[in-house]
Amino acid sequence: MIISSTTDYRAAAQKRLPPFLFHYIDGGAYAEKTLAHNVSDLSEVALRQRVLKDMSQLDTSIELFGEKLSMPVALAPVGLTGMFARRGEVQAAMAADKKGIPFTMSSVSVCAIEEVAPRIQRPMWFQLYVLKDRGFLKNALERAQAAGVTTLVFTVDMPVPGARYRDAHSGMSGPNAAMRRYLQSMTHPHWAMDVGLMGRPHTLGNISTYMGKNVSLEDYMGYLGANFDPSISWRDLEWIRDFWKGPMVIKGILDPEDAKDAVRFGADGIIVSNHGGRQLDGVLSSARALPAIADAVKGQIKILADSGIRNGLDIVRMLALGADCTMIGRAFIYALAAQGGAGVSHLLDLLEKEMRVAMTLTSVKSVSEITGNLLVQSR
Ligand code: FNR
Ligand code: LAC
Repeated sequence: MIISSTTDYRAAAQKRLPPFLFHYIDGGAYAEKTLAHNVSDLSEVALRQRVLKDMSQLDTSIELFGEKLSMPVALAPVGLTGMFARRGEVQAAMAADKKGIPFTMSSVSVCAIEEVAPRIQRPMWFQLYVLKDRGFLKNALERAQAAGVTTLVFTVDMPVPGARYRDAHSGMSGPNAAMRRYLQSMTHPHWAMDVGLMGRPHTLGNISTYMGKNVSLEDYMGYLGANFDPSISWRDLEWIRDFWKGPMVIKGILDPEDAKDAVRFGADGIIVSNHGGRQLDGVLSSARALPAIADAVKGQIKILADSGIRNGLDIVRMLALGADCTMIGRAFIYALAAQGGAGVSHLLDLLEKEMRVAMTLTSVKSVSEITGNLLVQSR
Protein backbone atom coordinates (compact mmCIF):
# COMPACT_ATOMS: atom_id res chain seq x y z
CA MET A 1 0.00 0.00 0.00
CA ILE A 2 1.42 3.37 -1.03
CA ILE A 3 1.13 6.01 1.67
CA SER A 4 1.53 9.65 0.71
CA SER A 5 -1.19 11.48 2.66
CA THR A 6 -3.43 11.52 5.73
CA THR A 7 -6.13 9.89 3.59
CA ASP A 8 -3.82 6.94 2.96
CA TYR A 9 -2.95 6.67 6.63
CA ARG A 10 -6.64 6.73 7.50
CA ALA A 11 -7.27 3.76 5.19
CA ALA A 12 -4.29 1.88 6.65
CA ALA A 13 -5.49 2.59 10.20
CA GLN A 14 -8.94 1.27 9.35
CA LYS A 15 -7.43 -2.01 8.18
CA ARG A 16 -5.29 -2.46 11.24
CA LEU A 17 -7.57 -1.36 14.08
CA PRO A 18 -10.56 -3.20 15.48
CA PRO A 19 -13.65 -1.18 14.42
CA PHE A 20 -14.47 0.05 17.95
CA LEU A 21 -11.16 1.94 18.02
CA PHE A 22 -11.21 3.14 14.41
CA HIS A 23 -14.69 4.63 14.79
CA TYR A 24 -13.85 6.21 18.13
CA ILE A 25 -11.08 8.12 16.35
CA ASP A 26 -12.81 8.76 13.06
CA GLY A 27 -16.26 9.69 14.30
CA GLY A 28 -17.89 12.87 15.51
CA ALA A 29 -21.08 13.95 17.26
CA TYR A 30 -24.67 13.53 16.01
CA ALA A 31 -24.83 13.83 12.19
CA GLU A 32 -21.11 14.71 12.01
CA LYS A 33 -21.80 17.95 10.10
CA THR A 34 -19.18 19.99 11.95
CA LEU A 35 -16.66 17.19 11.51
CA ALA A 36 -17.20 17.37 7.74
CA HIS A 37 -17.25 21.19 7.63
CA ASN A 38 -13.95 21.40 9.53
CA VAL A 39 -12.30 19.72 6.56
CA SER A 40 -14.37 21.15 3.70
CA ASP A 41 -14.36 24.80 4.90
CA LEU A 42 -10.60 24.70 5.31
CA SER A 43 -10.16 23.16 1.87
CA GLU A 44 -12.13 26.08 0.39
CA VAL A 45 -9.76 28.72 1.77
CA ALA A 46 -8.08 30.19 -1.30
CA LEU A 47 -4.57 31.63 -1.16
CA ARG A 48 -2.99 34.18 -3.50
CA GLN A 49 -0.44 32.53 -5.72
CA ARG A 50 2.64 34.73 -6.29
CA VAL A 51 5.67 33.80 -8.38
CA LEU A 52 9.29 34.63 -9.26
CA LYS A 53 10.53 35.87 -5.90
CA ASP A 54 13.50 33.55 -5.27
CA MET A 55 12.06 31.13 -2.75
CA SER A 56 15.19 28.99 -2.43
CA GLN A 57 15.53 29.79 1.31
CA LEU A 58 12.56 29.58 3.61
CA ASP A 59 12.05 29.02 7.30
CA THR A 60 9.10 27.12 8.80
CA SER A 61 10.13 27.56 12.44
CA ILE A 62 8.39 29.66 15.10
CA GLU A 63 8.85 30.72 18.71
CA LEU A 64 5.97 29.90 21.01
CA PHE A 65 5.77 30.16 24.81
CA GLY A 66 9.54 30.45 24.99
CA GLU A 67 10.10 27.34 22.87
CA LYS A 68 11.41 26.96 19.37
CA LEU A 69 9.21 24.80 17.11
CA SER A 70 10.58 23.54 13.78
CA MET A 71 7.15 24.19 12.31
CA PRO A 72 3.90 25.75 13.58
CA VAL A 73 2.33 22.47 14.67
CA ALA A 74 1.85 20.64 17.96
CA LEU A 75 0.36 17.18 18.45
CA ALA A 76 -3.10 17.66 19.96
CA PRO A 77 -4.08 15.77 23.11
CA VAL A 78 -5.84 12.53 22.17
CA GLY A 79 -7.36 10.23 24.76
CA LEU A 80 -6.58 6.48 24.60
CA THR A 81 -3.58 6.99 22.29
CA GLY A 82 -1.96 3.92 23.86
CA MET A 83 -4.80 1.77 22.50
CA PHE A 84 -4.02 2.69 18.89
CA ALA A 85 -0.36 1.59 19.00
CA ARG A 86 1.78 -0.16 21.62
CA ARG A 87 2.42 2.38 24.40
CA GLY A 88 1.25 4.89 21.77
CA GLU A 89 1.85 8.04 23.80
CA VAL A 90 5.56 7.19 24.07
CA GLN A 91 5.84 6.52 20.34
CA ALA A 92 4.00 9.70 19.33
CA ALA A 93 5.93 11.85 21.81
CA MET A 94 9.27 10.55 20.53
CA ALA A 95 8.30 11.25 16.91
CA ALA A 96 7.23 14.81 17.78
CA ASP A 97 10.43 15.30 19.74
CA LYS A 98 12.57 14.16 16.81
CA LYS A 99 10.75 16.64 14.58
CA GLY A 100 11.17 19.49 17.07
CA ILE A 101 7.52 20.07 17.92
CA PRO A 102 5.52 19.61 21.14
CA PHE A 103 3.57 16.52 22.12
CA THR A 104 0.50 17.20 24.28
CA MET A 105 -0.42 14.41 26.64
CA SER A 106 -4.15 13.95 27.28
CA SER A 107 -5.43 13.55 30.85
CA VAL A 108 -7.08 10.35 29.67
CA SER A 109 -3.98 8.73 28.20
CA VAL A 110 -3.09 5.09 28.57
CA CYS A 111 0.51 5.92 29.54
CA ALA A 112 1.05 8.11 32.59
CA ILE A 113 3.04 11.37 32.64
CA GLU A 114 5.94 9.56 34.30
CA GLU A 115 6.20 6.96 31.52
CA VAL A 116 6.45 9.49 28.69
CA ALA A 117 8.26 12.60 29.97
CA PRO A 118 11.66 10.91 30.57
CA ARG A 119 11.70 9.55 27.00
CA ILE A 120 11.83 12.97 25.31
CA GLN A 121 14.16 15.98 25.29
CA ARG A 122 11.63 18.78 24.91
CA PRO A 123 9.26 19.68 27.70
CA MET A 124 5.99 17.83 27.19
CA TRP A 125 2.70 19.73 27.14
CA PHE A 126 -0.06 18.41 29.40
CA GLN A 127 -3.80 18.65 28.83
CA LEU A 128 -6.05 18.82 31.84
CA TYR A 129 -9.63 17.65 32.31
CA VAL A 130 -11.36 18.34 35.59
CA LEU A 131 -12.84 15.30 37.31
CA LYS A 132 -15.50 15.45 40.00
CA ASP A 133 -12.81 14.09 42.29
CA ARG A 134 -10.97 17.40 42.53
CA GLY A 135 -8.01 15.69 44.20
CA PHE A 136 -6.98 14.54 40.72
CA LEU A 137 -6.54 18.14 39.62
CA LYS A 138 -3.90 18.99 42.19
CA ASN A 139 -2.22 15.63 41.90
CA ALA A 140 -1.98 15.84 38.10
CA LEU A 141 -0.62 19.41 38.19
CA GLU A 142 2.01 18.52 40.77
CA ARG A 143 3.10 15.47 38.81
CA ALA A 144 3.18 17.39 35.53
CA GLN A 145 5.31 20.08 37.11
CA ALA A 146 7.65 17.50 38.62
CA ALA A 147 8.03 15.87 35.18
CA GLY A 148 9.11 19.15 33.62
CA VAL A 149 5.88 20.01 31.80
CA THR A 150 5.85 23.70 30.88
CA THR A 151 2.69 24.38 28.90
CA LEU A 152 -0.65 23.47 30.41
CA VAL A 153 -3.54 22.98 27.99
CA PHE A 154 -6.86 23.33 29.74
CA THR A 155 -9.69 21.86 27.67
CA VAL A 156 -13.04 23.52 28.28
CA ASP A 157 -15.33 22.15 25.58
CA MET A 158 -15.95 18.76 27.18
CA PRO A 159 -17.80 19.36 30.46
CA VAL A 160 -19.83 16.36 29.24
CA PRO A 161 -18.99 13.98 26.37
CA GLY A 162 -20.77 14.66 23.07
CA ALA A 163 -23.36 12.27 21.63
CA ARG A 164 -21.38 10.02 19.34
CA TYR A 165 -23.64 7.57 17.61
CA ARG A 166 -20.87 5.48 16.08
CA ASP A 167 -19.58 4.37 19.48
CA ALA A 168 -22.75 2.43 20.34
CA HIS A 169 -22.71 0.64 17.00
CA SER A 170 -18.99 -0.12 16.98
CA GLY A 171 -18.80 -1.78 20.40
CA MET A 172 -17.00 1.14 22.05
CA SER A 173 -20.08 1.37 24.26
CA GLY A 174 -23.57 -0.13 24.13
CA PRO A 175 -24.94 -3.63 24.74
CA ASN A 176 -22.47 -6.55 24.90
CA ALA A 177 -19.63 -4.13 24.18
CA ALA A 178 -16.92 -6.22 25.86
CA MET A 179 -17.88 -9.35 23.92
CA ARG A 180 -18.04 -7.43 20.64
CA ARG A 181 -14.63 -5.88 21.24
CA TYR A 182 -13.19 -9.31 21.99
CA LEU A 183 -14.54 -10.73 18.73
CA GLN A 184 -13.16 -7.75 16.79
CA SER A 185 -9.69 -8.33 18.26
CA MET A 186 -9.79 -11.90 16.98
CA THR A 187 -10.21 -10.69 13.42
CA HIS A 188 -7.44 -8.07 13.77
CA PRO A 189 -4.53 -10.26 14.88
CA HIS A 190 -1.82 -7.69 14.17
CA TRP A 191 -3.38 -5.24 16.56
CA ALA A 192 -4.37 -8.01 19.02
CA MET A 193 -0.78 -9.17 19.36
CA ASP A 194 1.03 -5.82 19.20
CA VAL A 195 -1.29 -3.67 21.29
CA GLY A 196 -3.94 -5.95 22.76
CA LEU A 197 -1.37 -8.27 24.30
CA MET A 198 2.06 -6.61 24.27
CA GLY A 199 0.77 -3.08 24.89
CA ARG A 200 -0.60 -3.75 28.35
CA PRO A 201 -1.55 -2.48 30.88
CA HIS A 202 -4.60 -0.86 29.33
CA THR A 203 -5.67 1.63 31.94
CA LEU A 204 -6.05 5.38 32.20
CA GLY A 205 -2.48 5.76 33.41
CA ASN A 206 -2.70 9.27 34.87
CA ILE A 207 -5.87 8.58 36.80
CA SER A 208 -4.72 5.11 37.90
CA THR A 209 -1.53 6.61 39.34
CA TYR A 210 -3.63 9.04 41.36
CA MET A 211 -6.09 6.39 42.54
CA GLY A 212 -3.30 3.99 43.46
CA LYS A 213 -5.16 1.26 41.54
CA ASN A 214 -5.90 0.53 37.92
CA VAL A 215 -8.84 2.33 36.34
CA SER A 216 -10.09 -0.14 33.78
CA LEU A 217 -11.12 0.75 30.25
CA GLU A 218 -14.14 -1.60 30.24
CA ASP A 219 -16.57 1.30 29.90
CA TYR A 220 -14.43 4.28 28.86
CA MET A 221 -17.20 6.54 27.53
CA GLY A 222 -19.33 5.69 30.58
CA TYR A 223 -16.38 6.59 32.81
CA LEU A 224 -15.94 9.99 31.14
CA GLY A 225 -19.67 10.74 31.42
CA ALA A 226 -19.75 9.79 35.10
CA ASN A 227 -16.53 11.46 36.20
CA PHE A 228 -16.05 14.67 34.18
CA ASP A 229 -17.22 17.69 36.12
CA PRO A 230 -19.84 19.83 34.32
CA SER A 231 -19.85 22.41 37.15
CA ILE A 232 -16.55 23.83 35.90
CA SER A 233 -16.46 27.63 35.41
CA TRP A 234 -13.93 30.48 35.03
CA ARG A 235 -13.71 30.75 38.85
CA ASP A 236 -12.28 27.22 39.11
CA LEU A 237 -9.54 28.18 36.70
CA GLU A 238 -8.19 30.92 38.98
CA TRP A 239 -6.69 28.46 41.40
CA ILE A 240 -5.03 26.59 38.55
CA ARG A 241 -3.66 29.79 37.04
CA ASP A 242 -2.19 30.83 40.38
CA PHE A 243 -0.71 27.38 41.02
CA TRP A 244 0.74 26.80 37.55
CA LYS A 245 4.10 28.43 36.84
CA GLY A 246 4.23 27.97 33.05
CA PRO A 247 2.04 29.13 30.18
CA MET A 248 -1.66 28.23 30.40
CA VAL A 249 -3.62 27.73 27.20
CA ILE A 250 -7.39 27.34 27.00
CA LYS A 251 -8.57 24.80 24.44
CA GLY A 252 -12.03 24.74 22.93
CA ILE A 253 -12.79 28.41 22.26
CA LEU A 254 -15.19 29.04 19.37
CA ASP A 255 -16.70 32.42 20.18
CA PRO A 256 -15.07 35.89 20.23
CA GLU A 257 -16.73 36.71 23.59
CA ASP A 258 -15.16 33.63 25.22
CA ALA A 259 -11.84 34.57 23.62
CA LYS A 260 -12.08 38.02 25.25
CA ASP A 261 -12.89 36.37 28.60
CA ALA A 262 -9.75 34.25 28.19
CA VAL A 263 -7.69 37.42 27.67
CA ARG A 264 -9.27 39.06 30.75
CA PHE A 265 -8.66 35.89 32.75
CA GLY A 266 -4.96 36.10 31.95
CA ALA A 267 -4.50 33.04 29.73
CA ASP A 268 -1.31 32.92 27.69
CA GLY A 269 -3.11 31.49 24.70
CA ILE A 270 -6.29 29.93 23.38
CA ILE A 271 -6.93 27.04 21.04
CA VAL A 272 -9.73 27.70 18.60
CA SER A 273 -11.31 24.28 18.35
CA ASN A 274 -14.59 22.39 18.23
CA HIS A 275 -12.85 19.23 19.47
CA GLY A 276 -12.63 17.89 15.94
CA GLY A 277 -16.44 17.91 15.58
CA ARG A 278 -16.84 15.50 18.48
CA GLN A 279 -18.89 17.67 20.82
CA LEU A 280 -21.71 20.02 19.66
CA ASP A 281 -22.60 19.25 16.09
CA GLY A 282 -23.59 22.18 13.90
CA VAL A 283 -21.24 24.68 15.54
CA LEU A 284 -18.92 26.65 13.26
CA SER A 285 -15.91 24.95 11.77
CA SER A 286 -12.64 26.27 13.17
CA ALA A 287 -11.81 27.81 9.78
CA ARG A 288 -15.00 29.87 9.95
CA ALA A 289 -14.80 30.76 13.64
CA LEU A 290 -11.15 31.78 13.61
CA PRO A 291 -11.11 35.17 11.78
CA ALA A 292 -13.59 36.85 14.17
CA ILE A 293 -11.72 35.48 17.19
CA ALA A 294 -8.37 36.67 15.83
CA ASP A 295 -9.98 40.08 15.36
CA ALA A 296 -11.30 40.15 18.95
CA VAL A 297 -8.00 39.09 20.50
CA LYS A 298 -5.82 41.31 18.29
CA GLY A 299 -2.43 39.93 19.20
CA GLN A 300 -2.94 40.15 22.99
CA ILE A 301 -2.44 36.41 23.49
CA LYS A 302 -1.36 33.54 21.26
CA ILE A 303 -3.94 31.83 19.09
CA LEU A 304 -3.63 28.17 18.20
CA ALA A 305 -6.21 26.41 16.04
CA ASP A 306 -7.16 22.84 15.27
CA SER A 307 -10.00 20.76 13.80
CA GLY A 308 -9.87 19.79 10.16
CA ILE A 309 -6.14 20.01 9.36
CA ARG A 310 -5.19 17.13 7.08
CA ASN A 311 -2.12 18.43 5.18
CA GLY A 312 0.58 21.09 5.12
CA LEU A 313 -1.44 23.44 2.97
CA ASP A 314 -4.19 23.41 5.65
CA ILE A 315 -1.60 24.57 8.19
CA VAL A 316 -0.77 27.62 6.06
CA ARG A 317 -4.49 28.28 5.58
CA MET A 318 -5.13 28.27 9.37
CA LEU A 319 -2.25 30.70 9.87
CA ALA A 320 -3.59 32.98 7.11
CA LEU A 321 -6.97 32.96 8.87
CA GLY A 322 -5.33 34.28 12.04
CA ALA A 323 -3.65 31.47 13.99
CA ASP A 324 -0.07 31.68 15.34
CA CYS A 325 0.25 27.89 15.50
CA THR A 326 -1.84 24.81 14.79
CA MET A 327 -2.57 21.43 16.32
CA ILE A 328 -3.30 18.14 14.60
CA GLY A 329 -5.40 15.32 16.04
CA ARG A 330 -6.67 12.61 13.71
CA ALA A 331 -3.92 13.14 11.11
CA PHE A 332 -1.18 11.93 13.47
CA ILE A 333 -3.39 9.32 15.13
CA TYR A 334 -4.15 7.60 11.83
CA ALA A 335 -0.40 7.50 11.09
CA LEU A 336 0.37 6.17 14.57
CA ALA A 337 -2.27 3.45 14.32
CA ALA A 338 -1.04 2.43 10.87
CA GLN A 339 2.73 2.46 11.41
CA GLY A 340 3.56 3.54 14.95
CA GLY A 341 6.14 6.25 15.64
CA ALA A 342 7.68 5.81 12.17
CA GLY A 343 4.30 6.65 10.66
CA VAL A 344 4.05 9.82 12.74
CA SER A 345 7.57 10.87 11.72
CA HIS A 346 6.74 10.28 8.07
CA LEU A 347 3.49 12.22 8.36
CA LEU A 348 5.24 15.18 10.00
CA ASP A 349 7.81 15.22 7.19
CA LEU A 350 4.98 15.20 4.65
CA LEU A 351 3.30 18.13 6.41
CA GLU A 352 6.54 20.11 6.41
CA LYS A 353 7.12 19.43 2.72
CA GLU A 354 3.60 20.51 1.86
CA MET A 355 3.94 23.62 4.00
CA ARG A 356 7.08 24.52 2.06
CA VAL A 357 5.27 24.10 -1.25
CA ALA A 358 2.46 26.38 -0.04
CA MET A 359 4.93 28.99 1.24
CA THR A 360 6.90 28.87 -2.01
CA LEU A 361 3.83 29.39 -4.18
CA THR A 362 2.48 32.20 -2.02
CA SER A 363 5.96 33.76 -1.82
CA VAL A 364 6.37 33.91 1.95
CA LYS A 365 9.79 33.15 3.38
CA SER A 366 8.88 32.93 7.07
CA VAL A 367 5.86 31.97 9.14
CA SER A 368 5.40 35.54 10.42
CA GLU A 369 4.66 36.60 6.83
CA ILE A 370 1.68 34.23 6.67
CA THR A 371 -1.15 36.68 7.34
CA GLY A 372 -4.57 37.66 6.03
CA ASN A 373 -2.76 39.25 3.07
CA LEU A 374 -2.47 35.77 1.62
CA LEU A 375 -6.24 35.30 1.43
CA VAL A 376 -8.19 35.86 -1.73
CA GLN A 377 -11.92 35.59 -2.48
CA SER A 378 -12.26 32.48 -4.62
CA ARG A 379 -15.82 32.89 -5.90
C1 FNR B 1 -9.57 14.06 20.79
N1 FNR B 1 -9.48 15.34 21.31
C2 FNR B 1 -9.15 15.52 22.64
N2 FNR B 1 -8.95 16.78 23.15
C3 FNR B 1 -8.57 16.95 24.43
O1 FNR B 1 -8.39 18.09 24.85
N3 FNR B 1 -8.37 15.87 25.24
C4 FNR B 1 -8.56 14.58 24.82
O2 FNR B 1 -8.37 13.65 25.57
C5 FNR B 1 -8.99 14.40 23.48
N4 FNR B 1 -9.23 13.14 23.02
C6 FNR B 1 -9.47 12.95 21.67
C7 FNR B 1 -9.55 11.65 21.18
C8 FNR B 1 -9.68 11.45 19.80
C9 FNR B 1 -9.73 10.04 19.28
C10 FNR B 1 -9.76 12.54 18.92
C11 FNR B 1 -9.87 12.36 17.43
C12 FNR B 1 -9.71 13.83 19.42
C13 FNR B 1 -9.56 16.51 20.42
C14 FNR B 1 -8.20 16.83 19.80
O3 FNR B 1 -7.32 17.34 20.77
C15 FNR B 1 -8.31 17.90 18.69
O4 FNR B 1 -8.98 19.03 19.17
C16 FNR B 1 -9.02 17.39 17.45
O5 FNR B 1 -8.65 16.06 17.15
C17 FNR B 1 -8.70 18.31 16.28
O6 FNR B 1 -9.36 17.94 15.13
P1 FNR B 1 -8.73 17.01 13.98
O7 FNR B 1 -7.29 17.44 13.78
O8 FNR B 1 -8.84 15.61 14.49
O9 FNR B 1 -9.61 17.29 12.83
C1 LAC C 1 -12.77 12.63 23.22
C2 LAC C 1 -12.30 13.04 24.57
C3 LAC C 1 -11.61 12.09 25.39
O1 LAC C 1 -12.93 13.48 22.38
O2 LAC C 1 -11.67 14.28 24.53
O3 LAC C 1 -13.06 11.41 23.02
